[in-house]
Amino acid sequence: MTVYFIGAGPGAPDLLTLRGRDLIAASPVCLYAGSLVPEALLDHCPPGARIVNTASLSLDAIIAEMAAAHAAGLDVARLHSGDLSIWSAMGEQVRRLRALAIPFTITPGVPAFAASAAALEAELTLPGLTQSVVLTRTPGRASTMPPAESLRAFAATGATLAIHLSIHQLDRVVADLTPDYGAECPVAVVWRASWPDERVVRATLATIVEAVAGSMERTALILVGRVLSAEDFGESSLYAPDYDRRFRPQSAASPFAETDA
Ligand SMILES: C[S@@+](CC[C@H](N)C(=O)[O-])C[C@H]1O[C@@H](n2cnc3c(N)ncnc32)[C@H](O)[C@@H]1O
Repeated sequence: MTVYFIGAGPGAPDLLTLRGRDLIAASPVCLYAGSLVPEALLDHCPPGARIVNTASLSLDAIIAEMAAAHAAGLDVARLHSGDLSIWSAMGEQVRRLRALAIPFTITPGVPAFAASAAALEAELTLPGLTQSVVLTRTPGRASTMPPAESLRAFAATGATLAIHLSIHQLDRVVADLTPDYGAECPVAVVWRASWPDERVVRATLATIVEAVAGSMERTALILVGRVLSAEDFGESSLYAPDYDRRFRPQSAASPFAETDA
């Protein structure tokens, strides 16, 4: 028996890995975080599966479900939105499972920041502009932020920011970022990326609060950075005609040129 943690993706039911789909189909128990996981994914469950929405359960109750399945020898598909490596509450479940000697595996999923970048048709790292993306959030009711991880601290890097769980504090995000990024810095808010009702608002730090005007709640990602509107970035060396590389040696003298030895 195994608990299969599966990244359920950002919302579109077909943004699920084939491995995730097959594990759901083979598991007689499915526990899903109902607030964000699309119900259409439950269509992959086998007939007669025990399907539990864990949105209203405590950690103790969730682990009790897993332990009961373990005692009965039943595999469990455990679904969380996006990918499991960020804000999934997987860490605390895995720690309990290790203590109980219940086996588990982890299958990654498409994270919301990637689905949002796709909606914006944007590469978040562009040559000469920025080579880093910060996945972060602002403090919430249940979560404080380590002091060194404030938005103001990240702003000093100039990196592209993907700010989760923060649409309700958009005005504060703007106030924290404007001193370093400047009022004209591009911002995009993507609401329910990849869902049928996906919405995108593009503006600047100066205009985004008015542009969103409180019209988006909860499932929205705030992306900030010059990459969002830049056209004057460099081309990557990798595909430059004269760039000497393993798959395209430029001369017989290249260290990458094939030899018969
Ligand atoms: C608890 S976190 C889950 C993150 C998830 N594990 C991931 O890999 O993206 C929830 C936050 O992710 C963002 N989010 C999740 N799904 C989204 C979507 N489809 N579109 C935009 N933002 C989304 C929102 O900022 C939301 O407040």
